[in-house]
Amino acid sequence: MPRLVIVSNRVWAPEAAGKESAGGLAVALRAAFKAYEGLWFGWSGKVAAHAATQPTTVEAGNVQYVLMDLTALDRQEYYYGFANRALWPTMHYRVGLSDFSRTDYAGYLRVNRTFANALANLVCTSDLVWVHDYHLIPLAAELRSLGLNNLIGYFHHIPWPAPEVLGTLPGSTDLLRAIMDFNLVGVQTERDADNLRRALLQELGAAQTRDVLHAGIRSTCVKAFPIGVDTRDFQELAARPRANRIIRQTITGLGSRKLIIGVDRLDYSKGIPQRMEAYERFLIENPNQRGHVTYLQIAPTSRSEVPEYETLSRVANETLGRINGSLGEPGWVPIQYVTSTYPRSLLAPLYRLARIALVTPMRDGMNLVAKEYVAAQDPLDPGVLVLSKFAGAAQQLTGAVIINPNDKVEVAEAIRDALQMSHQERVTRWQSMIEVVRDRDVSWWAAAFLKALVAQQHEVAMPAGEGRD
Ligand code: F6P
Repeated sequence: MPRLVIVSNRVWAPEAAGKESAGGLAVALRAAFKAYEGLWFGWSGKVAAHAATQPTTVEAGNVQYVLMDLTALDRQEYYYGFANRALWPTMHYRVGLSDFSRTDYAGYLRVNRTFANALANLVCTSDLVWVHDYHLIPLAAELRSLGLNNLIGYFHHIPWPAPEVLGTLPGSTDLLRAIMDFNLVGVQTERDADNLRRALLQELGAAQTRDVLHAGIRSTCVKAFPIGVDTRDFQELAARPRANRIIRQTITGLGSRKLIIGVDRLDYSKGIPQRMEAYERFLIENPNQRGHVTYLQIAPTSRSEVPEYETLSRVANETLGRINGSLGEPGWVPIQYVTSTYPRSLLAPLYRLARIALVTPMRDGMNLVAKEYVAAQDPLDPGVLVLSKFAGAAQQLTGAVIINPNDKVEVAEAIRDALQMSHQERVTRWQSMIEVVRDRDVSWWAAAFLKALVAQQHEVAMPAGEGRD
């Protein structure tokens, strides 16, 4: 069995790994190490005075965690700058928010090169290398230039936009060239795979044989692997006796009211203010429901040093204040809003308490909250998932009430319908969704990707005369 080397911007190393607040990506990558031993490489999350050339290493169980510090300038240019102010908005179709700077792009390439230099010394010939997320698209090209011939896979957790959208970003053709240095590129949905293949064909003049794209001497396979959740774990956490103070308080505070829940990082791609306004509309159109529902929005603060996130935080607070001020009554607050991070052990029972989950991103690679909500439901009395057609999860969770988050009237009507939905319909819809969430869980995802990566050893061969560099 080869060793697995995972590379991701954030690494959930042992001191963080014990905490339950780990997000979907952390859970997913830990699942990959269930079947392999290996190494997990990435940013320590720390900022140091001087650029690190040597990583620090922590051993725990079958995994060696290898962590690099960044300088403040690296973090600014690579993480906040190019990754989160240029790539992130473009990949989420928010071209108007994308702020490209050559300095940031140079910083992004520099950090990828530094990571590659440190990692190359640690990789053995037979290791499988699996790179994650948009922060590290140039990593395989850097590793190849250092002579690495290993199988290298990449998983893109966020949407891959249409070529016309990606093409607006300066440097995007270089990123497409860099993609060709991976043996396998995994994306969340067939739509993402189609977008990426079209970009490689149009921008690089690549040639295609089934899933494999050839450009010059390089070949890569592009496939969809929808990421899943640890379904069994979520089911167990949700079904545990409700001993926690916050859960008891929530139950008491709700009384006979129905709970509507939203759980998202405070990110403009999640459509939080738009969702609040749709809920406001629902309350205006259905005055008899006032005082009978509570919407709890959990929105942990994120990337707060990026100006667009500061603006979002202000807009969310203003929208919240306006709605609670205008529609609230003594003894009833329409929206409860918290910005702390909740552990999975608390989220699971909260999901189970909620009659409706509002998962209404403007655009999302997959959205694991949708799958966690389904996993956490009581099979005898499940809630209703209201899901954006622009979340990757909508391709699989067809039993959800699918909405367009740009249409507040549609979302308001979906809330009304979900509250009125018959028990029979709730059960039928949930049964269709839990089947997918159970069968395509996080272990399936990791195993399917790694199996396909190993298969590239034999599959990827450049047909003579096809493609060009
Ligand atoms: O998948 C998208 C992603 O970048 C994950 O890698 C990360 O865990 C999440 O968003 C949160 O972003 P950040 O690491 O910037 O806080």
